[in-house]
Amino acid sequence: MQKTVHRGIEKIHLGHYPTPLERLENISRETGLNFYIKRDDLCGIVFGGNKVRKLEYLLAHAKAQGFDTILTAGGAQSNHAILTAACCKKLGLDALLLLKKRGVTETRGNLLLAGLMNVPVHFIDTDSYAHVYAEAETIMKAMRAAGKNPWLIPVGGSVPLGALGYLDATEEIAAQAGEQGFPVDHIVCCSGSGGTHAGLILGAKKLGAKVTGIVVSVEEDFQREIYKLALETAKLAGIGDIVLDDVVLKEYIGPGYARPSEEGDGAIRFMAEKEGIFLDPVYTGKTFAGFLDLRSKGFFAPGENVVFVHTGGGPALFAIYP
Ligand SMILES: Cc1ncc(COP(=O)(O)O)c(C=O)c1O
Repeated sequence: MQKTVHRGIEKIHLGHYPTPLERLENISRETGLNFYIKRDDLCGIVFGGNKVRKLEYLLAHAKAQGFDTILTAGGAQSNHAILTAACCKKLGLDALLLLKKRGVTETRGNLLLAGLMNVPVHFIDTDSYAHVYAEAETIMKAMRAAGKNPWLIPVGGSVPLGALGYLDATEEIAAQAGEQGFPVDHIVCCSGSGGTHAGLILGAKKLGAKVTGIVVSVEEDFQREIYKLALETAKLAGIGDIVLDDVVLKEYIGPGYARPSEEGDGAIRFMAEKEGIFLDPVYTGKTFAGFLDLRSKGFFAPGENVVFVHTGGGPALFAIYP
């Protein structure tokens, strides 16, 4: 598997990059903006998604350190967990997925994919990641006693090493926008565990673009968390700092995390009807709904060049839908 060293840090090539950056004519016409979509849902692992850019760094580190088993955590339909498992398959690493049960009983969507890959899932009936990480420690201790060398990737891969992936994504976006002959004014992304958003903020600074993150789950002191992550990522990458106000968040959670909202459903249908592109009910649908609402409130200047990051999530259409 091909490796490169970027900013002195190793990454393994797992996805198909660059992903397309495409102007959507119908959405542009409907919104009065120049609407571009960054198709990270087409990165070639499982049904695509943002986590692969993070995993290119995280799993390069795991391989270099000699870890043989990767544990990671998430909600019952975690895209991050399934993408981690698929990347581990490619690299010959074992994976164990620690997922919050929260009443889930059906093997649909990403759980179906875990079964098809024959990847073990350990359900924990909790709402707290503190419980999940405590359980992970116990499991890893037992694994070590059995001669394994496990490593835990925290939820969403949203640690500085992972967030570097989205710093790289802004370089990719800048090159593509340059080729297509437009300046990027604004990037809109989903902000779940914050790593995608943090990386994009750092790269967008250099581009002179604004970044708006749409929040789809309840997180305490989230702006400061992302700020902290972005600062640590900047330090790792050896690039300049950002200020707290660079972290712009708009909340469109609706009835709750992973609970579809009426606006998100409308946004999924709008994108599908106008462009034949599919968003998901947990992340990208609510993010696009947030974008449409903000546009209707004059948040974007007319004719602004907006890049919407499609972060994947397709399997949830078949697991969680109104
Ligand atoms: C499809 C999709 N979009 C967006 C996000 C949010 O990305 P981040 O966790 O980097 O904020 C996730 C996180 O799981 C996701 O699965």
